[in-house]
Amino acid sequence: MCGIVGAVSRSGAVLEGLIDGLRKLEYRGYDSCGVAMFEGEAVQIRRKVGRLSELEKLLADGALAGARAGIGHTRWATHGKPSDENAHPHTDGSGRMALVHNGIIENYLELREELSAGGAVFRSETDTEVLTHLVGRELARGRGLAEAVRLSLKRVQGYYAIAVMALENGQPRLVCARQGPPLVVAATNEIGLCGSDVLALLKYTRDVVFVEDGDIVELAPGRLSITDFDGRPVTRAVRHVDWDEEAASKGGYPHHMLKEIHEQPDVLARTAFDRILQVEGDVDFEGPGFDDARLCALERIQVVACGTALHAGMIGKYLIENLAGVAVDCDYASEFRYREPVLAPRSAVLAISQSGETADTLAAMRLARERGLAPLSICNVQGSTVVRESEAVILTHAGPEIGVASTKAFVAQVIACYLFAVRLGRARGKLSVEQGRELLDELRRLRARLEGLITEKTVDQVRAVAAKHLKAKGFFFLGRGVNFPVALEGALKLKEISYVHAEGYAAGEMKHGPIALIEPGMPIVVINSPGRVADKVRSNIEQVKARGGHVISVGADEASHKLADDAIRVPACSEWLSPLLNVVPLQLFAYHHALARGCDIDKPRNLAKSVTVE
Ligand code: AGP
Repeated sequence: MCGIVGAVSRSGAVLEGLIDGLRKLEYRGYDSCGVAMFEGEAVQIRRKVGRLSELEKLLADGALAGARAGIGHTRWATHGKPSDENAHPHTDGSGRMALVHNGIIENYLELREELSAGGAVFRSETDTEVLTHLVGRELARGRGLAEAVRLSLKRVQGYYAIAVMALENGQPRLVCARQGPPLVVAATNEIGLCGSDVLALLKYTRDVVFVEDGDIVELAPGRLSITDFDGRPVTRAVRHVDWDEEAASKGGYPHHMLKEIHEQPDVLARTAFDRILQVEGDVDFEGPGFDDARLCALERIQVVACGTALHAGMIGKYLIENLAGVAVDCDYASEFRYREPVLAPRSAVLAISQSGETADTLAAMRLARERGLAPLSICNVQGSTVVRESEAVILTHAGPEIGVASTKAFVAQVIACYLFAVRLGRARGKLSVEQGRELLDELRRLRARLEGLITEKTVDQVRAVAAKHLKAKGFFFLGRGVNFPVALEGALKLKEISYVHAEGYAAGEMKHGPIALIEPGMPIVVINSPGRVADKVRSNIEQVKARGGHVISVGADEASHKLADDAIRVPACSEWLSPLLNVVPLQLFAYHHALARGCDIDKPRNLAKSVTVE
């Protein structure tokens, strides 16, 4: 995720504060950074690929140390490789304005064509640069900065948090806006401030405003005014933040895991939206290795992964086989590497890993590559070993995942599998343009459904159900089809942060032995959503209830909820995307169970975030 900061001061220099703010945002992950400082009549920009220390070398001459206004950025590349030219801030070339952006401009190509036709000169590969030329064009027409930003954003589709600075009558003006990614602002008598995270502002003030979607904010020393995109005044509460830095890095949530669960709608947008080619009903992965010829030659795909990542790969199996018609094998990496696998020719190995450093996954991937399989990967960390050893990579844009129990990375991995299945299906002619459009439209619509699900109402509902079973000696999690791996994932989440025994099982397998374990009142979580196996899962619920099990149904199948003792409803969606919604209550269930048991949520005992040893 990118990070943005901005400050305009009455008298004091702001450069040091901006760099400090960018340092506080480093946890978001980045590959380049930069600042634009307003000193005298022109904007001065310093930007560099690499770490903040590289940028500080560019600033060591002190030329900008006295500037009273500036904006800064840490970039996580989505459009355009990490490079000095693609690093933010960007300008329109007039020397009077600069802009930083976190998010994605979905219609940037058409805007770029229009602006280029009008004479705009583009100097980067980024989507962001279209914003600078839109705003610069309005400024050139004599409009004030806030009005220029407002008119420009009306042309934009996408999601973004931006800060724009421009000289007006020799004075630096700072305007920011939000539609999606978080943005926090503040104003004291001395300084006006903005940042992606409250952390970046705490050096100056603890009284902040959390900007809402659709807000445009004008900031100056002693001045903070908000309007909507139609120019109507908006009022937002000023909140006093008494978090310490550790707390603030959790964005106000008590634990990284809870913050990361709430980030999942944004993760969907960041991982999927700029790869969707809606007109073509297809997917465009940056980087080589996903062209039609290569994908048509594939006969089988061998997934290797561990833990949660393998659960995502198992869902990927259902997606790829059903949407693309390509056979998929899934193995725990630790098993694959020692079982002397017999591998089909013309196959690829797909390594799935959040960290990109898991020893078993790396070893399995290397073994498959030695046997002639093309190495592909789905990974969350650019520059990790898995990424460096892959011929083709689908990067997930979940941002750094701090909680040891994986949540948003899992959701991102499933999304990556879904996008890959569509690309594969379109490349092989299994999916028509129309079918591709429908599948991608479903995915785009899912963001709002995820947002609608991850609310206080769901949290309260799940917390209440979890509270009923704090004394339970063990749990079953049951699912079928594409939701069978979700049952495994729900059980793993509960085990790893609550230290309570939980078993994920194929619902149809219960009668072949495990059903003997069911005692009256034993909690059985059953995941069920409308689809080809919904009625079979309802029968499984009946079988469990007949033996006194306490059924907690999770999903969008109303008939299951009526049979169950507790129901946690999620919005309906396509069968193939239902895991992305059904997993959320299970993540929250594990979280609240662990919380009630006083467990360490973010650093569970015995666990490491990345298992880099055998
Ligand atoms: C998930 O909650 C666990 N922390 C663990 O199973 C993890 O998914 C596994 O170790 C794989 O890690 P990776 O995705 O970084 O390769």
